[in-house]
Amino acid sequence: MNPIINYPDQVKDKFLELFNQEPLIVRSPGRINLIGEHTDYNLGFVLPAAINKAIYLGIQKREDKFIKIHSLDFNDDFQGNLNEIKQSEKLWPNYLLGVVEQIQKIHHIQHGFNIVFGGDIPPGAGLSSSAALECAIAFGLNHIFNLSYEKMDLVRLAQAAENEFVGVKCGIMDQFASTFGKQKQLMRLDCRSLEYAYVPFLADDIQIVLFDTRVKHSLASSAYNERREQCEQGVKWIQEIHPEVKSLRDASEEMLLTHVKPKNQKIYERCNFIVSEIQRLQDACNDLENNDLQSFGKRMFETHYGLKDLYEVSCDELDLLVDLVKDNPNVLGSRMMGGGFGGCTINLVKTEAVNDLIAQVSASYHTKTGSEMLNYIVKIEDGTSIIN
Ligand code: GLA
Repeated sequence: MNPIINYPDQVKDKFLELFNQEPLIVRSPGRINLIGEHTDYNLGFVLPAAINKAIYLGIQKREDKFIKIHSLDFNDDFQGNLNEIKQSEKLWPNYLLGVVEQIQKIHHIQHGFNIVFGGDIPPGAGLSSSAALECAIAFGLNHIFNLSYEKMDLVRLAQAAENEFVGVKCGIMDQFASTFGKQKQLMRLDCRSLEYAYVPFLADDIQIVLFDTRVKHSLASSAYNERREQCEQGVKWIQEIHPEVKSLRDASEEMLLTHVKPKNQKIYERCNFIVSEIQRLQDACNDLENNDLQSFGKRMFETHYGLKDLYEVSCDELDLLVDLVKDNPNVLGSRMMGGGFGGCTINLVKTEAVNDLIAQVSASYHTKTGSEMLNYIVKIEDGTSIIN
């Protein structure tokens, strides 16, 4: 067995070794999303939660203008200058530099800083390790430079960094979930008004289990941006007749049938998935209120099939994982989670059946694909905070 790694201590020790300073340490978690996929940038609702997997980022001011960063997990360094923020050829520094660029647009901070970070959010698994990293540095810089940002401002800033610097036109869900997470609570976020409510998830007899395909598609971010454009195109066609419709949140199935379907079948299918997913989330929230996890789980399957057949963001490995559990009475719901094209499925599983299920699904996955999958039994935890 691997020894349990104490990330805060590791970050601190490395920081002292490299920079001879005591860091401020920020913990910023990854996220799951129970239902409401690709609805955030269509200004609908999402139902995410922060989890017990996180980035730990140590940070402290420097006297000069340098930015020095060490990644524990990549065992790699980056050095830059505060006055010349530009894209790095390596991907990982860009999640941090994008946030610095956003802050510099307004504050022109005068001091450089040192960073060491690491953590246990598997990258590329759809658990938003990149959003966690963006939120960690946003939180850290806000603190060490006394920038007085509110939490929601930090969320927006981190999202803007990903949109503008990394180039993924993501919605607000991941950065929101990482920042606002609360132990044992889901969050129902209205992505238009940014109003949110905590919804308890206290089913002790149910565990949230993730099955990780370990598949990562390099075209995922361009396909993601393309889906977003297709949704925007659908809205434009509806707006020609209904100018009051500002996003798919305002669209009805009838509008799609009349104004989108005759123009383009694919775009119709994309929009149709979103309009039904926005409704599905609201129905699923009613199920939660009625403590009806059976119905909630059925809706998760419906989401999966919509993402697979209409939105077309699934892949064979994700479909296989859903297929392997779909008739199992111990699995209430299962679906691909996040942007798609790889990553994890999220499963609601009866507690007493978790171990057998993991053994069974791992074995079948191996037989059918020749690859090993991973699994994570996740707990819902607090959002980004300073831990020392
Ligand atoms: C990614 C994006 C989010 C969201 C999901 C799909 O995680 O970063 O903004 O759109 O995909 O729901």
